[in-house]
Amino acid sequence: MSRYFLLACTLALQCVAASQEDYIVKDLPGLSNIPAVVRPVMHAGHLEIDEEHNTELFFWRFQNPKNNGTHQTLHRNELIVWLNGGPGCSSMDGAMMETGPLRVSDKLEVELNPGSWTQVADILFVDQPAGTGFSYTDSYDTELKQAAQHFWQFLKTYYQLFPEDRTKKLYLAGESYAGQYIPYFAKEIIENNSLNISLEGLLIGNGWIDPDIQSLSYVPFSLEAGFLDRQSPSMAQVLKQHEKCQQAIDDPSNHDFEKVECVKIFHSILAASRDETKPAKEQCVNMYDYRKHDYFPACGSNWPEGLPTVTKFLNLDAVQKALNLKSAKRWHECDGKVEFFFQPEHSVKSFDLLPKLLEKMKIALFAGDKDIICNHKSIEMVIEKLQITPGQFGFTNSRKSGWIYDGQEVGEVETQSNLTYIKVFNSSHMVPYDLPEVSRGLFDIITNSIEKRSTDIVTPVYDSRGNYKFVEEKQDTDQNEEEEKEKPPKHHHSLTFYVAEVAILAVLAYLLYSFYKSFAKSRKSAFLSLSSKKKKKQVHWFDESDIGMDQEAGEADHKPKSMLESVFNKLGYGGQYDTVQDGRDIEMAPVEEHEDQFIIQSDEEEFGHR
Ligand SMILES: *[C@@H]1O[C@H](CO)[C@@H](O)[C@H](O)[C@H]1NC(C)=O
Ligand SMILES: *[C@@H]1O[C@H](CO)[C@@H](O)[C@H](O)[C@H]1NC(C)=O
Ligand SMILES: *[C@@H]1O[C@H](CO)[C@@H](O)[C@H](O)[C@H]1NC(C)=O
Ligand SMILES: *[C@@H]1O[C@H](CO)[C@@H](O)[C@H](O)[C@H]1NC(C)=O
Ligand SMILES: *[C@@H]1O[C@H](CO)[C@@H](O)[C@H](O)[C@H]1NC(C)=O
Repeated sequence: MSRYFLLACTLALQCVAASQEDYIVKDLPGLSNIPAVVRPVMHAGHLEIDEEHNTELFFWRFQNPKNNGTHQTLHRNELIVWLNGGPGCSSMDGAMMETGPLRVSDKLEVELNPGSWTQVADILFVDQPAGTGFSYTDSYDTELKQAAQHFWQFLKTYYQLFPEDRTKKLYLAGESYAGQYIPYFAKEIIENNSLNISLEGLLIGNGWIDPDIQSLSYVPFSLEAGFLDRQSPSMAQVLKQHEKCQQAIDDPSNHDFEKVECVKIFHSILAASRDETKPAKEQCVNMYDYRKHDYFPACGSNWPEGLPTVTKFLNLDAVQKALNLKSAKRWHECDGKVEFFFQPEHSVKSFDLLPKLLEKMKIALFAGDKDIICNHKSIEMVIEKLQITPGQFGFTNSRKSGWIYDGQEVGEVETQSNLTYIKVFNSSHMVPYDLPEVSRGLFDIITNSIEKRSTDIVTPVYDSRGNYKFVEEKQDTDQNEEEEKEKPPKHHHSLTFYVAEVAILAVLAYLLYSFYKSFAKSRKSAFLSLSSKKKKKQVHWFDESDIGMDQEAGEADHKPKSMLESVFNKLGYGGQYDTVQDGRDIEMAPVEEHEDQFIIQSDEEEFGHR
């Protein structure tokens, strides 16, 4: 190992050789309780990428003890880089709560994650952009291109330290805001590939890929999922916000990366979902998992449940020492400063990069179906607009299958050319947190390590030693073979249904667009943001609870019907509204002055200590 050196130079140009040895993670609380034969091989520490600004990115690399290129059968020589989102959220989320091999017990000791992705590949977690998690910097990134250049600089330094990884097939994976990072990083790697790295594929979970398209998913998704009640007095306000978002998107002079009007749809839905008859900690729907609830307006900031334990663990002196930190740093999940500076107003959205990337590699977009903030419908709407192959937008000629893991149908898979969409059932924003073993199958799918059974695909079940078997769907025991054979082949209605709905929405969007083209453009509102430090995908909580819901709730019923309300009425969404009269479609509620005056409030100040 120590054959490979990395020169770390100080300002005075005194260079000291850093070797892999210096990065070994020798001990962690509880590690010795894990049998050596399954104990992960780990390296962690900082790599300097910009000396002038003291920029050092932190990484943690895990390997199965026997998965070092010699022992794998289904998977060989693959390296996954996992990135969490934010911007500003640490990939230690991924390492300790999602795809990494270790979980933290209540006793603050590590134990094995049975769903570890190290069963299928080596995995590297990187805290970036600089300042995130355990990374250091004096100078924060503001744009995606800049983050991509820094990431590439990191990789080049990393490969100097681990030259054996250069021959491994590289996959970039992550979730949420990493839906922006990953395509940018992939582009940087393939355009500037002085190391001849073989970048094989991208896996993006509940990704934030196109803020405009995805914001328009919130209303239809929330109604369909049922946590937004179409009878709610706030519904008119929600729909009006949806219209304003559409208007902002259609405004050719509005180049905002994330439009304030669109962010506000999300807030208005969370506010509308509030149930003040419930105990305080259940009043708001959890924005990352609508099966769960949280305080208002935290609405999911106190999730995931495992976070407080992980935070305590990562702040233990013994742990920071074991992770070879150059100096102690208080770890928190998401860094407000990183998020504050990262405002990519000069970047195109990563959506625009996908068509070119699809010509060169596989891309899997997956989505836990219970997430709200980057919900599966929003990903389906993104795909609908995506050029999958030259001239082909959306799935036109795709192959659909059910996904079987350990005898259960755990999701649906749709593939066309190099694009795969995977909807994961019963899962939140953080799929590997909820369903670690199932989530590992996502990598089996992108690497085609699957078996096909009529209309289904089966991903393998692994044991802790990495042995695998394919377990088919369990049959009902009280059903005999004959009946089983007569059953018609399974259909996957839901995907088709969603696609149809998305198509309807596209038509609506076009109608609205035509309408708005003739409508005078609105004032540009002042954009003030005060970020919460706790968001997996950051939302700007500038208007938190005081968006004006309460004042407006009473008026809502009496306002003139807007086009969208009318349209929702026609679709059967708008139960409470009157039948649309002729000519109503081109009437719109006036935009009221006070709605753009935000009251700044932080959920941490107001609600953090409950
Ligand atoms: C890799 O595998 C070889 C052969 O099984 C073994 O000797 C070596 O110790 C392994 N290296 C690591 C880092 O686990
Ligand atoms: C490749 O990286 C170098 C060094 O960071 C940079 O100067 C160059 O512009 C990059 N090339 C491309 C095509 O991005
Ligand atoms: C990358 O590949 C090119 C062309 O095959 C070769 O000239 C170059 O030396 C390679 N670079 C490295 C770092 O292996
Ligand atoms: C799909 O990706 C492969 C590389 O993995 C590439 O060779 C192929 O041309 C791509 N297909 C299309 C239709 O672009
Ligand atoms: C998981 O999701 C499927 C499909 O949505 C559903 O039929 C099943 O009941 C769910 N299982 C659980 C345990 O919630």
